[in-house]
Amino acid sequence: MSEQATQPEQVRKGLEGVVAGETSISDVDGHRCQLIYRGYHIDELIGRASYEEVGYLLLFGALPTRAQLAEWTTQLESQRAMDPPLTAFLQTLPKAAGPMATLRSLVSLMGVLDPSENDTSLESIKRKAVRTIAVIPTLVAAIGRHRAGQPLLSPTPGVGQAATFLYLLHGKEPTPLQARALDAYFILLADHGFNASTFTARTVTGTQSDYYSAITAAVGSLKGPLHGAANRKAMEMLTEIGSVEQIEHYVQRTLADHKRFMGFGHRVYKGADPRAKHLKEIAKRLGESVGETRWFDISERLQEAVWQAKKLYINVDFYSASLLHYLGIPTELFTTMFACARMVGWSAHVLEQAADNRLIRPLALYIGPRELKFVPLDHRK
Ligand SMILES: CC(C)(COP(=O)(O)OP(=O)(O)OC[C@H]1O[C@@H](n2cnc3c(N)ncnc32)[C@H](O)[C@@H]1OP(=O)(O)O)[C@@H](O)C(=O)NCCC(=O)NCCS
Repeated sequence: MSEQATQPEQVRKGLEGVVAGETSISDVDGHRCQLIYRGYHIDELIGRASYEEVGYLLLFGALPTRAQLAEWTTQLESQRAMDPPLTAFLQTLPKAAGPMATLRSLVSLMGVLDPSENDTSLESIKRKAVRTIAVIPTLVAAIGRHRAGQPLLSPTPGVGQAATFLYLLHGKEPTPLQARALDAYFILLADHGFNASTFTARTVTGTQSDYYSAITAAVGSLKGPLHGAANRKAMEMLTEIGSVEQIEHYVQRTLADHKRFMGFGHRVYKGADPRAKHLKEIAKRLGESVGETRWFDISERLQEAVWQAKKLYINVDFYSASLLHYLGIPTELFTTMFACARMVGWSAHVLEQAADNRLIRPLALYIGPRELKFVPLDHRK
């Protein structure tokens, strides 16, 4: 079919409002402002289930029984260590290398090193997914320590993904509150329908390319400020504001300059992002626990001021910023934290796409010239 066949009224810039496929992994209900994971409202899961349980739910379709959870946890623990070539590669990189670019390269390298890279059977994808989900906190913590010039640490068994990450980054056991906070963050960001990075992963999978290519591309997509990098940009915004007294001035200047408030607005949710209230609550508790509520206070007042000025709701990235900051995570690592959480969602979508694949190939409305006559090189002006 000629792409010319597309009628102008059918063009939806940014695919806004377009239903591009079916999924039973998560439902982003923009009108009711709900996020559902495999039938469970996130409010039902948060504070009750662990990230491991939710990861299992997203990946395999149902909450695990006690025996399944034990097996899943053992699988994750046994595959958390970084392969020596990944460590060696990381150590060749400059300390200033961007964390997301580094993560993208490490995931790609995992594919290069996997002899079964091109096996696209569901069993093989599952095996790769488990390995990648297990190792992602180790990779991100290693990136953080490499940047800080600190020796890399090895994961120890017996703790979950969140506590493992915090130990591997900081070199000391997190408090139960810190571990629970990051666990909840991972749950809340684990999946989100056909967001840009997930759709990217599905598009790559649609060509029957391999798991690692899909995840590498997803990391690249998440890297953008309109998607995953918004959490880092939100922290930079809070830092630039610096104090509650500066909020009004910042808001007015941003509006006058026609710039965006990072961590505000959403393509799908027409009201409050259902994840944001949980993240806000956790950020508040973490701030109080360290006796430093400045970043939370600025965030809360900014939320009110932007609402007054532009009626914009906060999104997932807004309170992620102060939450991650209170966990001692450097701002430059923020987007890799999003990737840590989303690895399970990406993997579930790769599996779902591969299980019932159809090449993803939309049309484009050509708006360039036609019927031009060829001009030989010597006659071109
Ligand atoms: C997420 C986002 C890309 C969705 O954008 P979108 O659906 O394409 O919405 P649009 O860009 O069409 O914006 C619609 C209107 O809201 C405004 N708007 C949307 N988000 C805004 C923001 N964060 N700050 C200021 N204005 C914003 C736009 O300026 C536009 O206003 P106008 O009609 O007066 O020009 C957008 O809200 C944004 O850039 N947010 C900041 C980045 C961010 O937090 N990303 C993480 C998303 S989870």
